Amino acid sequence: MTAPIRFDGEVAVVTGAGRGIGRAEAVLLAERGANVVVNDVARERVDEVVAEIRASGGRAVPSYDSVSTVDGGHAIVQTALDSFGGLEALINNAGFLRCGYFEDLTLAQIDEVLDVHLRAAFHVTQPAWRVMKSNGYGRVLMTSSSSGMFSHHGLANYAAAKAGVYGLTKALAYEGLDHGIAVNALLPFADSAIGVDNPIPDWTAHRQRYIADDEQALLATRRDPMLTAVLSAYLVSRACTVSGEAFSACHGRYARVFVAATEGWLADGTGNVTIETLGAHFDQVRDTTRHSVPRFVFDEIADVARRLVEKQTV
Ligand SMILES: NC(=O)c1ccc[n+]([C@@H]2O[C@H](COP(=O)([O-])OP(=O)(O)OC[C@H]3O[C@@H](n4cnc5c(N)ncnc54)[C@H](O)[C@@H]3O)[C@@H](O)[C@H]2O)c1
Repeated sequence: MTAPIRFDGEVAVVTGAGRGIGRAEAVLLAERGANVVVNDVARERVDEVVAEIRASGGRAVPSYDSVSTVDGGHAIVQTALDSFGGLEALINNAGFLRCGYFEDLTLAQIDEVLDVHLRAAFHVTQPAWRVMKSNGYGRVLMTSSSSGMFSHHGLANYAAAKAGVYGLTKALAYEGLDHGIAVNALLPFADSAIGVDNPIPDWTAHRQRYIADDEQALLATRRDPMLTAVLSAYLVSRACTVSGEAFSACHGRYARVFVAATEGWLADGTGNVTIETLGAHFDQVRDTTRHSVPRFVFDEIADVARRLVEKQTV
């Protein structure tokens, strides 16, 4: 039988845990023994989640600070240290939408979304990182989004922020390698009020182009935030040893999402590379049949170096 995955004695911070996915993550981690900092700017919701966790015998404290400021990030981490004396797991989850077609997005909408998703990941993770690095252990989960990695309409600000979160995940995964810190990204799908507060324009019309109504009804039965929280909890547990990867929890389908490089066209020599010779090989450049998934930039360069050496020896 598989050993249960538990967080006894560990401290976890979940931002935006007042409702939706964050709430499910906080409740699940507490159920599994973690001491949880329940963070959200919505005070009443924080208090409800803390009360719910305590009522079931778990340990939780409230944090009402905003992830969107440097001070807020420090205060959230300090709450973990003051209340429980450590920090092993951080889930950056807080956020909201500010929707609109690209030509209509205001600077305020762009800034607010970059602040709450991308800059917040710096504000909260930096103070947490110092603790984790000095302890030689940590798990960080960045909440990215399929809207950022695969894209759709009406959310260019959000897509850019969430793709940035993926980039930050990769960067920190490398920096965490020698310090026992694993950093991964989550691409969730779940029932929540995030899109009710800020509806994506023409969402139903766009969705109906690709997903039939009966399929949509089936998908709707598999949107419980707990389906996502299970993946989140795994990714911030000691059982999870991968780092720098992204995982999608899509209606009960769990999958890795990765950025790959095609085998591409390796020019014979650099002297004969012109716009036209490149264009002549463009299908080969784009052909995804053979590809690699570089973990870090050095993997990509090393792959080219290996092929150049092979070329020389034939
Ligand atoms: N629901 C989905 O299908 C989905 C899909 C992709 C990505 N996401 C991402 O997952 C995360 C959670 O989304 P959700 O659907 O549960 O949303 P939600 O709106 O239910 O919950 C988000 C919570 O974040 C809080 N919050 C907002 N600004 C904050 C701030 N400055 N500081 C602290 N807390 C703040 C809100 O008060 C709210 O309680 C978000 O990052 C979202 O972008 C959700």
